Amino acid sequence: MRLLLTTTFAVCLAQSAWTQEAADAVAPEAASGLGFAAISDEVTAAMAAKQAGAPVEAESWMVAAANPHAVAAGAEVLRNGGTAADAMIAVQSVLGLVEPQSSGLGGGAFLVWHDGATGEITTLDGRETAPMAATPRLFQDEAGEPLKFFDAVVGGRSVGVPGTPALMEAAHQKWGKTEWADLFTAGIKLSDGFEVSERLAGLVARDADRLSRYPATAEYFLPNGEPIVAGDVLVNPSYGAVLKRIAAEGAGVMYQGALVQDIVATVQSAAGNPGVMELSDLASYAVKERPAVCAEFRDHEVCGMGPPSSGALTVGQILGMVNVTDAGTADDIQTWRKIGDASRLAFADRGRYMADSDFVPVPSKGLVDKEYLADRAALLDGEKALESVAPGEPAWDHAALRWADDESIELPSTSHISIVDQYGNALSMTTTIENGFGSRLMTNGFLLNNELTDFSFRSHRDGFPIANRVEPGKRPRSSMAPTIVRKDGAPVLVVGSPGGSRIIGYVAQTIIAHIDWGMDVQQAVAMPHAVNRFGTYDFEEGTAMADMAPQLEALGFKVNVRGLNSGLHAISIGSDGLKGGADPRREGIALGE
Ligand code: GLY
Repeated sequence: MRLLLTTTFAVCLAQSAWTQEAADAVAPEAASGLGFAAISDEVTAAMAAKQAGAPVEAESWMVAAANPHAVAAGAEVLRNGGTAADAMIAVQSVLGLVEPQSSGLGGGAFLVWHDGATGEITTLDGRETAPMAATPRLFQDEAGEPLKFFDAVVGGRSVGVPGTPALMEAAHQKWGKTEWADLFTAGIKLSDGFEVSERLAGLVARDADRLSRYPATAEYFLPNGEPIVAGDVLVNPSYGAVLKRIAAEGAGVMYQGALVQDIVATVQSAAGNPGVMELSDLASYAVKERPAVCAEFRDHEVCGMGPPSSGALTVGQILGMVNVTDAGTADDIQTWRKIGDASRLAFADRGRYMADSDFVPVPSKGLVDKEYLADRAALLDGEKALESVAPGEPAWDHAALRWADDESIELPSTSHISIVDQYGNALSMTTTIENGFGSRLMTNGFLLNNELTDFSFRSHRDGFPIANRVEPGKRPRSSMAPTIVRKDGAPVLVVGSPGGSRIIGYVAQTIIAHIDWGMDVQQAVAMPHAVNRFGTYDFEEGTAMADMAPQLEALGFKVNVRGLNSGLHAISIGSDGLKGGADPRREGIALGE
């Protein structure tokens, strides 16, 4: 049955490969429930709170992420006086082991940081980068036609230079307090053996065909040809050895030396689909600090990751348009009409204008300008769905170019980490290897990303260049939206999610639910989803939101009821302390003290 489904998905993609709607043909990671073996009493209590729909409460610090082992590792660091940046390193190094399909040393990440001491907000861009030998034709066949999505994903061609290890080190250098080497203790210990979760086992079974293509990957996930199952104890000494080297020598071991030779050899020798990465691509990788992109929503400032992510700009556009309408209520069809069409308008701008701003001019200021968004919001004044949606004309602060609309497909895995520490720092980081299990290439116990397939496979349309086309040294456009919401300069909500380009809708909805509809963070992340990106309004199956679909259809929307597998992790910060919420669709928790 599983293989049958895989084949069906592949056929769907082949038939309709290059439309945005094709992204719907393949689900990203499936949802999963609890069912996690108890790690400690506090983890058990956090899991019970989540099951009961209640936030975890704390006074001093909190961490919320996608796997209880990883959250427990972060909590230990925070309890011992570590900063949010320290805790992130412990969380990330465990996630790369116990949730390897989603993020890890072979991937990239974006981090938003509110500094408790200075009140400043900034971001770190640890996005994967295209090798210098990559060309705009990287994902085209000899006739210049785009490759089928998974023909591009699986193998070395899709692998970008990983940024996560360098980002971990950069964050530690800027904001760390704990000894670097001590932050890997949990990951190293767990590499001696951890229990496979139901989620990991289910995803391996679902992807067995692709995971079996490369020997190192098959050996780990399909020992003796059979997928690992929940409850198996998985041992990963190679990963433990890499963590020990990073702990002792720094993240530089991922960019120069023997490990790098392994990465490059794995990419270049990938059977059937080799990549063009070279040693010099890794040696020249750099994390970039960039100003946060902020938009106004009610009396809050919503800050996140600007280009190469489309996250903050698109979330900011949706909220900026909703901001000029009444808050409405969550059970009012007209509220969802406005949110749905605001989102379509924002995605139209995203498709035209957003890409790596180090390579193409992006009108970032114009896109979240209040007056521009008020003009766009005026389009929402009717009572029916918009018949058609086109990109707007934001003000440009530099040379204007005529771009063609992008058509990249994002089916990512991805994970989100939210942390608040006792020093008043807040960290929001979304981290990824892109598709579930990335390129399916594994070396030294970690998977390599397929982030380059976040670029548009076509480089031009109707003679105009696509902003998000492949270029050497460029970073592919992302949808990741790690966000910190502030009021009067103080953080009040830390939030983010995996979910491909639906990340944007998940994050915007959670912020609206918390601020406009007064939901606590657990209610807000658990709330059923409705997401509209390119015209089809997706409603979460099996929920009250799905019951609304016919009414939205009557307003003129094309509707689709389906699983919507967010992985939201959020922390609210108020006069009544910290509250943490973890998405019930996945296996994460929040812990605090
Ligand atoms: N690959 C996930 C994202 O960057 O949106």
